[in-house]
Amino acid sequence: MLAQLFTDAAQSCKGSSPLTESLLLNAAADLSAGGVTTRVMAGYERDRKGTMPALRFAGALHRLVLEGRAPGLAKHYPSVGGSPHLATLWDAVLPVLREHTDELRARIGATVVQTNEPGRSAPLFGGLQVAAHAAAVAAGRDEPFPVRLLEIGASAGLNLHPDRIAYRLGDGAVVGDPDSPFVLDPEWTGRPSVDLTRPLRIVEREGCDLHPIDVSTEDGRLTLSSFVWADQLHRWDRLQAALELAAADPAPVRQATGPDWLADRLAGQVPDVLTVVWHSVVWQYVSPADRAEGRAILADAVARATPEAPLALLVYEPRRTHTGYEFHLLLKLWPAGVSLRLGSGRGHGVPFNWEEQEWV
Ligand SMILES: C[S@@+](CC[C@H](N)C(=O)[O-])C[C@H]1O[C@@H](n2cnc3c(N)ncnc32)[C@H](O)[C@@H]1O
Repeated sequence: MLAQLFTDAAQSCKGSSPLTESLLLNAAADLSAGGVTTRVMAGYERDRKGTMPALRFAGALHRLVLEGRAPGLAKHYPSVGGSPHLATLWDAVLPVLREHTDELRARIGATVVQTNEPGRSAPLFGGLQVAAHAAAVAAGRDEPFPVRLLEIGASAGLNLHPDRIAYRLGDGAVVGDPDSPFVLDPEWTGRPSVDLTRPLRIVEREGCDLHPIDVSTEDGRLTLSSFVWADQLHRWDRLQAALELAAADPAPVRQATGPDWLADRLAGQVPDVLTVVWHSVVWQYVSPADRAEGRAILADAVARATPEAPLALLVYEPRRTHTGYEFHLLLKLWPAGVSLRLGSGRGHGVPFNWEEQEWV
């Protein structure tokens, strides 16, 4: 059963992370043969597929590498300057599993898979610009509204700083903060329908998460880094840049379930500010009861929204299709009655295709 979960997880890395694919296939074979991986994974034999035991295993090993405690294995990990040699990878893994069996087992039991993907800041940036502009038009204002950004399932809050990133567009133009140390190529086709050179003003930013990660700690940064596949250097570099940016001025991420926190934050109206509720790749983890409660809380807030205290919902979530998953950026704005699909892109937010249409 567990061996099958490892094989399935290896399959999902095919083509995108040869290192993780090879690691998990070898671990699956070792589990079937009753090798040391069986002891590392002892107690997790019946873990649900959704808790992704194989990725917790890969993350725990990666963390030892990042901490400099598995130098023989580090030679295979590009995240620390190594270069994978798949034929000898498993021979380098085995002594690490033997030496750190108890620690690895404890860590695998204590962690949930945490990915906070800063590439999603790019569609968020464009979506916020469209929302702030549309709210201003509806209120008869010349200037886009300043934004109060509320994120459900914010993880470490890396996407709470979309205004502080330099987005280098294909034609060489840079929007966002051109002086930012975090330069992101969003790989856009098309553009949002508004003037992106106008500054996006975020006057308040806050998130909630069931398991928030504190970017101001070494432990928090290591946790997030360990879950990036070590041979995906573009994602690795993006994450390190985002961590640095966020650690310089962390946005608060409260430990709470979405509905509890949202009810509190949406209880009162905030005039002259556009309140935006944002979530990406979270909805699938939220229980049906919490989803229903979240919708009811939002409906109450919608009823209180006014042109001078508008409310928006911006989401980037997977939708199952017959060939896999697609990700759409959706915007609803009240009381203006705007409902748009702004575009679609890959799960990590890059690349992204802007193509506005009504969302019904
Ligand atoms: C795949 S991560 C996505 C993180 C972030 N939104 C992003 O796009 O990078 C999903 C996050 O949702 C959080 N989460 C799951 N269920 C939740 C709930 N009911 N309330 C708040 N956060 C939740 C998890 O702890 C995790 O940090």
